[in-house]
Amino acid sequence: MVSKIKTCVFISGNGSNLKSIIKSSRDCNFPAKIDLVISNNINSNGLLIGKKNGIPSRYIKYVNQFDFERKAINELRKKGIKFLILAGFMKVLSKKFIYNFRYKIVNIHPSLLPKFKGLNTHKRVLKDKEKYSGCTVHFVSDSLDSGQIISQKKILINKNETEDSLKNKVLKLEHRLYSQSIISIFR
Ligand code: GRF
Repeated sequence: MVSKIKTCVFISGNGSNLKSIIKSSRDCNFPAKIDLVISNNINSNGLLIGKKNGIPSRYIKYVNQFDFERKAINELRKKGIKFLILAGFMKVLSKKFIYNFRYKIVNIHPSLLPKFKGLNTHKRVLKDKEKYSGCTVHFVSDSLDSGQIISQKKILINKNETEDSLKNKVLKLEHRLYSQSIISIFR
């Protein structure tokens, strides 16, 4: 039994990575306990997943970066959060926020970074006729999708691959890689 780090997950959408991390966190040896979920999107399925699992799950309206971060920091402090997981969080965090949490924020990106940073990853991967794709877990730095890489998983792209099929294949990988990476950080 490990003593678990108090953790918050930031989301914006579907929350499938959140779901798989919550599942992993039930293992007594998993290093993180998900104590809070924050979404900038009131309609995100991830908020429902958090609530269904008995985790305080808050919507914070994204008026602007400063306002969002001020409200989020308030929630993080109230819960004594020490580790932050970005799981499909579609907003950029300020340098100041990242500096205060440095080496304590992780993100997952659906490509083999440093290739294909940013949005519309799968579309660009297919357009460039890449042979492989995959996903990357990394620490968050003040430059988009550029922080220190923690781990990656790679898959072969099929000849008839579509954006959707690639997205689903990579998501399955993400679900395994994210929990494994979190374990590896605290090992
Ligand atoms: C994932 O592909 C993740 O890599 C990216 O956003 C997507 C989130 O999916 N950053 P979900 O909300 O966890 O299902």
